[in-house]
Amino acid sequence: MSTHTATAISHPNIAFIKYWGNRDNALRLPVNGSISMNLDGLFTRTTVSFQPSLPFDELIINGHEVAGKGLTRVSYILDLVREMAGIKANAEVMSENNFPAGAGIASSAAAFAALALASSQAAGLTLSEGQLSRLARRGSGSASRSIPSGFVEWNMGSGDEDCIAVSIAPPEHWALTDCVAIVSSSHKKTGSTEGHAIAGTSPLQNARVQDTARRLEICRNAILKKDFEAFANIIELDSDIMHSVMMTSNPPLMYWQSATVEIFHQVREWRAGGLPVGYTVDAGANVHVICLSEYAKEVEKRLRELPGVSNVLAAGVGGAAKLV
Ligand code: DP6
Repeated sequence: MSTHTATAISHPNIAFIKYWGNRDNALRLPVNGSISMNLDGLFTRTTVSFQPSLPFDELIINGHEVAGKGLTRVSYILDLVREMAGIKANAEVMSENNFPAGAGIASSAAAFAALALASSQAAGLTLSEGQLSRLARRGSGSASRSIPSGFVEWNMGSGDEDCIAVSIAPPEHWALTDCVAIVSSSHKKTGSTEGHAIAGTSPLQNARVQDTARRLEICRNAILKKDFEAFANIIELDSDIMHSVMMTSNPPLMYWQSATVEIFHQVREWRAGGLPVGYTVDAGANVHVICLSEYAKEVEKRLRELPGVSNVLAAGVGGAAKLV
């Protein structure tokens, strides 16, 4: 028996080997595989309710009705679900994040992972983890990685069907903490979707993509062997390579602020001094400082003392998207 309402929770994730650029923008098939960990304690909770009486899909995020592009992107996923389930009803989608907007954490990954799970369940479908990852990917590429648990690898696949993310280790495998250093920034950013579309204009993108299998292997092995030094070196390299592509694309994307770069210098100094830390940055100015969890309090304290850091948010390794 299928119900018409379902609620799901999922975590955002931070990429260690980054997704930047698609071989198919419409299907969100990436030009390279990526690796991430889910962020525990931070989540999006989404309830989807299919109601035949609704004249159109409705989207409410953190209590506010959303129209325009946000709604179009959600309806696109609902259309895929309606097609699979053979239903026509419109849906009400209510979504809440427990982390503030502008906290330096992309909300689209958690949002589309929760939407994929809640909407498919509400439509009476029981999808496998792989099918859910694939569906979430159509809404936001990185959302494919918020479906499985813990440490996750999103495989390029050969096409739409096998372009899915899988868990490579459960959350309890390795106690890492992401201390997100929030760098004050009033800067209007270019979103990831637009960034992916121009990645190929950078003369460095081909070199980045061609070297990705090597970086993926080093990162995967470092995680599996819990080799922090190798891990820190490869995530910093990967982040720096992605930002080199961003800075050299047309138009150029410069996400870093001076405080961002200052944190890079500090993190490397701290690591040289024996503190297990490494940095990675997404499409923004905030720095994700990854450390062994036993040092998280110390790292957080040091980050808060730096000029330009307005706040620090700490998250351990999170589990899979789940129904509630
Ligand atoms: C820099 O998944 O947000 O965070 O598919 O257009 O929603 P869309 O892009 P998105 O891109 C994430 C880019 C990144 C790196 C990463 O998370 O791998």
